[in-house]
Amino acid sequence: MDGFEINKILGAILGTCMFTLALNIVAGGLFAAKVPAKPGYDVTVTEAHGPAVAEKGAPEEPIEKLLAAANVEKGATLAKKCLTCHDFAKGGPNKVGPNLWGILDRDKGAIANFSYSTNFKKIMQGHWTIDDLNKYLLNPKAVVPGTSMAFIGLAKGTERADVIAYLNSLSDSPKPLPKAQ
Ligand code: HEC
Repeated sequence: MDGFEINKILGAILGTCMFTLALNIVAGGLFAAKVPAKPGYDVTVTEAHGPAVAEKGAPEEPIEKLLAAANVEKGATLAKKCLTCHDFAKGGPNKVGPNLWGILDRDKGAIANFSYSTNFKKIMQGHWTIDDLNKYLLNPKAVVPGTSMAFIGLAKGTERADVIAYLNSLSDSPKPLPKAQ
């Protein structure tokens, strides 16, 4: 094998390499995937909205119905939020807020040695019904603007029902609550 022949062989190999490379570049140009402007798939959701919206938008079940499924123990746990300001024991003291023993059916603003806010005394007449408690616990400030009860409220109907069921149990004679049919 002389030098010339070796050159030819090397040339052939080099040529093949160049050809493969060129093919690769052309093919890359032809078949390159288009990069989408926004990564990911476009998923069109046509499904109707589920319970999440029903919870927010639709009116809640009436409190009587929620009470039929209420849970006193859960209410006791939830009512820990009230303990900062309220004592629940019979003959217990007032704290930031008045003692709440027997609050269901009790006259509104009945604790003589507690100084209720001016608006509370003005607006709150009669005795505490389930409905009244439900509304006040949802948003105290909406019922009594300027109330001194600095509590944001319990947004969930089921939670208010549990708390009301618990409050009802704090009494010498708890009222019969609505029962499930
Ligand atoms: C940050 C303190 C605070 C928290 C927390 C709080 N309350 Fe009150 N609550 C008050 C005050 C103060 C009043 C008196 C309101 C007024 O005079 O305007 C009050 C009044 C009340 C009354 C009226 C009592 C009456 O004698 O007529 C009820 C019922 C009541 N709260 C229930 C609750 C329940 C149930 C919770 C927990 C879910 C709670 N509160 C959480 C401070 C609080």
